[in-house]
Amino acid sequence: MSSKKREQWSSDFGFLMAAAGSAVGLGNLWKFPYVAGTYGGGIFLVFYLIFMAVPGIPILLTEMAIGRNARLNAVGSCSKIKKGWGFVGAFGVLGSFFVLSYYSVVGGWVMKYLAEYSLGRGIPSPESYFTDFTSRSAEPILWHIGFMLICVIIVSVGVSAGIERISKLLLPLLLVLTIVVCIRSLTLDGAEKGVKFFLVPDLSGINSLSDWGEILLHAMGQVFFSLSLGMGTLITYGSYLDRNANLQRNAVAIPLIDASVAILSGFAVLPAVYACGLDPTAGPGLVFQTLPAVFDSMAGGGILAALFFLLVLSAAVTSAISLLETVSAFLIDALKIKRISAVLLSAAAMAAVGCFASLSFGALSDVKIMGMGIFDLLTFASDNILMPLGGFFMCILAGYIWGIPAMTEEISSGGKYPLRLVRLFSVILKYIAPAFILVIFIASFF
Ligand code: TRP
Repeated sequence: MSSKKREQWSSDFGFLMAAAGSAVGLGNLWKFPYVAGTYGGGIFLVFYLIFMAVPGIPILLTEMAIGRNARLNAVGSCSKIKKGWGFVGAFGVLGSFFVLSYYSVVGGWVMKYLAEYSLGRGIPSPESYFTDFTSRSAEPILWHIGFMLICVIIVSVGVSAGIERISKLLLPLLLVLTIVVCIRSLTLDGAEKGVKFFLVPDLSGINSLSDWGEILLHAMGQVFFSLSLGMGTLITYGSYLDRNANLQRNAVAIPLIDASVAILSGFAVLPAVYACGLDPTAGPGLVFQTLPAVFDSMAGGGILAALFFLLVLSAAVTSAISLLETVSAFLIDALKIKRISAVLLSAAAMAAVGCFASLSFGALSDVKIMGMGIFDLLTFASDNILMPLGGFFMCILAGYIWGIPAMTEEISSGGKYPLRLVRLFSVILKYIAPAFILVIFIASFF
């Protein structure tokens, strides 16, 4: 362990903005509306909210406590609890690596759309535009690298001067922009149908056990992804926390902010999609293909579209920097190198992998590994394998090996903020959460 003093967040509020900034991202604005749209609308929303509370909050609390206790990167923090358990953190670092590799490609698309709308050109015939653009070779890669560079600049400046400062600026901006877009979307003619689809659970389309399974699986996956769980991100961010910070308050505030933005973005996207007679189950293209059509059909839509993509970009950046920090923090400690070298090294490697992910929409679309394209393989490996495994072993490591008493001591900052629901917390962490994750993990292969 280096004796150099570890960097720290400058304030509690700063940490909250950074951690909520990590949570709120493409997962909320790009993924949530289409996953909710595809898997049952109102029903999905119900399970999503339940899973946010349990197992979301307890695992969030656990990750922050693991990091703050050890004050090390994700791998170091886990092996500090018990030698040989660093692999749990390693799942996280590897997972973060995969996530940012493809996340940055999507971030690049967002930048491209923002540029087109800001220049007043807009996106003509959105459906073919999206497939044309993403299947090109050089241009999407350049945007992807541009996105990665933004992250590199912020993260190399440091934890409090870089990550914290930019999150304190962007997260509030993003909240305001989401509300603006929401209001516009809700006041469109025909918006009620979308609101109804989104809010009122409709059981008629769900006919079998496997339909239910799909909904649960995706709601759970969405909660993990959206809260940045199981990937060591919150261990890393937690490791820069002051011993006096109130972990419990953060563990409630982060999901509240995250779920609010997800719901707002459902309100921003789904009513607009219905108002324009488009399909809410359009999948990953929803934000890129259907929304431009929505913006097109509105007076002043171009400006709103520019705002919307600015909002998506801000959210994507504050999440991407948390992923870059997770990988970089590991390299700083493991290779004993400077922050800037670690950031450049990890970003270059992820950018390279991202290039292949980007090309899998065009030149490399024929390359299939286990039946999946490269982009899909990266999302599968991280979202469906590393994230649940990381979450599962995190529960085991904390619940059984570190143990509830030692953990409660850390969570309560040595008794300063008593953990009232210890029993409940313990049952969730030791039994409910791991059992849950395991069942859903296994079910996902059928
Ligand atoms: N939570 C972010 C989003 O919703 C993505 C993200 C950032 C993430 N860090 C993570 C996902 C760590 C999983 C693990 O877009």
